Amino acid sequence: MRVCIVHGSPRKGNTYRATLVFQEQLRQYGAVDFAEFHLPKDMPHFCLGCHGCFEKGEKHCPHAPNVQPIVKAMLDADGIILTSPVYVLAESGCMKAFLDHLGYMYIAHRPMEEMFSKVAMVISTAAGTGTRHSMGAMARSLNHWGVKRIYRYGLNVFAPSWDDMKPAKQRRIRRTLDSKAKRFYHAMAQRAELRPRVFTRAMFTMMRKMMFQYPDGHIDKEYWRQKGWLTGSRRAV
Ligand SMILES: Cc1cc2nc3c(=O)[nH]c(=O)nc-3n(C[C@H](O)[C@H](O)[C@H](O)COP(=O)(O)O)c2cc1C
Repeated sequence: MRVCIVHGSPRKGNTYRATLVFQEQLRQYGAVDFAEFHLPKDMPHFCLGCHGCFEKGEKHCPHAPNVQPIVKAMLDADGIILTSPVYVLAESGCMKAFLDHLGYMYIAHRPMEEMFSKVAMVISTAAGTGTRHSMGAMARSLNHWGVKRIYRYGLNVFAPSWDDMKPAKQRRIRRTLDSKAKRFYHAMAQRAELRPRVFTRAMFTMMRKMMFQYPDGHIDKEYWRQKGWLTGSRRAV
């Protein structure tokens, strides 16, 4: 299996440790190759709001040399893992900046059909509260990219660092991450057969109708047409 990880923090702290445990647990179920990207090192830019990706194509993004290798690794993978610590009840700024660069591949614009069979996991840690928000933000993008299954793991550390957590809590974390790893691995192995999600199908159907209203030549409409999604009954999901 191939898994692409986008780490939403440069720190080798709690989130990284939880992700390492998850990686270890995944390897129990079979061989896994990881392609790892570290934010902000591998994509150090804020979206400039130039609309280049939306209006001219993603290659026109001034940050495409950073963004596109990560997109390619995600498309080549069976599974995607996005991680982030909680910062002020939200995802990290570098994760937000990364996700901002990928709005063009929302189902509402130019969805990548490869995403319709991907499995994803979001991992987030907090001192005490907020993982619901940070995981929600990462899951929202995965959802709008059309990802087939999205799993979540949020941890409130309630300690200065990972090693300060009681051994019993660390064992509980391992057990939980193990059961999530098992589900994630098996979902990756069966990803072609898994049923598409209602959200993806509904969004796709709605956007397909919208595309007919767009003028010919509109970049999104031409993309959908080239994919064959506007003719006959050809459906991507
Ligand atoms: C700028 C900043 C904001 C934070 N905001 C919150 C917060 O809103 N809620 C919370 O429980 N912890 C918050 N924390 C603590 C971290 O989320 C927590 O320590 C997390 O496990 C750090 O992950 P890391 O070790 O991977 O960096 C914040 C930390 C920083 C640096």
